[in-house]
Amino acid sequence: MSERWTPTSWRDKPIQQVPVYPDLGALKAVEAQLAGFPPLVFAGEARKLKRALAKVSAGEAFLLQGGDCAESFAEHSADNIRDFFRLFLQMAVVLTFAGSSPVVKVGRVAGQFAKPRSAPTETIGGVELPSYRGDIINGIDFTPEARIPDPQRQVDAYRQSAATLNLLRAFATGGYANLENAHRWMLGFVKDSPQSGRYQELSDRITETLDFMRAIGLDAEAHQELRATDFYTSHEALLLGFEQAMTRVDSTTGDWYGTSGHMIWIGDRTRQLDHAHVEYCRGIKNPIGLKCGPSLKPEELIRLIDVLNPGNEPGRLTLIARFGAEKIGDHLPGLVRQVQREGRTVVWSCDPMHGNTVKAGSGYKTRPFDLILSEVKDFFGVHSAEGTHAGGIHLEMTGKNVTECTGGARAISDAELQDRYHTHCDPRLNAEQALEMAFLVAELLKKQKNARGRPVVEAAE
Ligand code: PEP
Ligand code: CO
Repeated sequence: MSERWTPTSWRDKPIQQVPVYPDLGALKAVEAQLAGFPPLVFAGEARKLKRALAKVSAGEAFLLQGGDCAESFAEHSADNIRDFFRLFLQMAVVLTFAGSSPVVKVGRVAGQFAKPRSAPTETIGGVELPSYRGDIINGIDFTPEARIPDPQRQVDAYRQSAATLNLLRAFATGGYANLENAHRWMLGFVKDSPQSGRYQELSDRITETLDFMRAIGLDAEAHQELRATDFYTSHEALLLGFEQAMTRVDSTTGDWYGTSGHMIWIGDRTRQLDHAHVEYCRGIKNPIGLKCGPSLKPEELIRLIDVLNPGNEPGRLTLIARFGAEKIGDHLPGLVRQVQREGRTVVWSCDPMHGNTVKAGSGYKTRPFDLILSEVKDFFGVHSAEGTHAGGIHLEMTGKNVTECTGGARAISDAELQDRYHTHCDPRLNAEQALEMAFLVAELLKKQKNARGRPVVEAAE
């Protein structure tokens, strides 16, 4: 790895998952245009998130990260954003209150557009076309025209991200997120679900607590923590030309920041040590995520940490484990032990989605709720055995009533997948399933907290 980093130094490295743009002149022009656009997020916000993640790495908080697998241009609407945000708030409240843990909220949103693919082309009915790579690159329709990478889409993705962020900021700070509203966050279709009773009970307890606080002279209006929330954005930093264009020097510190989102992560397919994606990410100061899949060896992980977090800065690096329910037990303990042995400070988060994708009998790509839950449980189990902190969860989810993952309390079946299968890429938990998952994770979190609180009796030497 070369010593000198610049926002363009990734261009000299080998790279995976690059779209082939037919008109390189047009691509260059768009990248130049983006470089002149305002930043979407600010360095100070990214630093604040890093401080919050440092608390997670110290075992004092929990990371909730989630959203669409791929955001889409067609589904950009205020309703979708509101439904996603209130589901997120509900889940956060469940984890905070039922799990007794402060929650760091990071959406896969306002920039989650580019997708790595397992093959460069896709064949349907004997016709072979380039794969869909996310709305920021090409179109999902199975036509030759739609599948041509079009740089103008990067400008559209930027503008959609700006509008999404604008609404999210308003929701987070303009009163909607006030804890006094916790009982109003219930989504319409979840109201008659098995989760609604539990949530209602919890929001009643919150209301009681707030009433009590008010009675003793503390009220939400005077306390920013009750009135508003810190909500951050994240996405996979896959399309490096776009990321480069959004890379800016922070005037207060002189450091480089990616301003396309507060946190960005490196995907499991693009984490090669000497390749472009690692090179780009090492030079910006944002919090960085690294997906860790079954092919990652403990030694290799340490070399990646050397490059991505040479100063062992708490909150800088989140390791997102995504092995699959069957494999987590074989892979995670070795990685956790090596990281401990080498004294590296990281956040350990669990993505129980990407290792648990199966093809249903109906032909749909799906994820059974029980497999997802099984990986989450094993994640907590491994951390409990190793004496480390299960720090977060990374979910693909939507506020909508889709039928993409099977199972959950309403037992969505294979045959029902066709009813509302709307995802642009991978199957997401619907609002009800996501809330159910939050309750289940809250129980695990509480157990983790209680176990840690218990006095440890040292064995005599
Ligand atoms: C994703 O998070 O959408 C993704 C593609 O994950 P991974 O890189 O872990 O496969
Ligand atoms: Co996905």
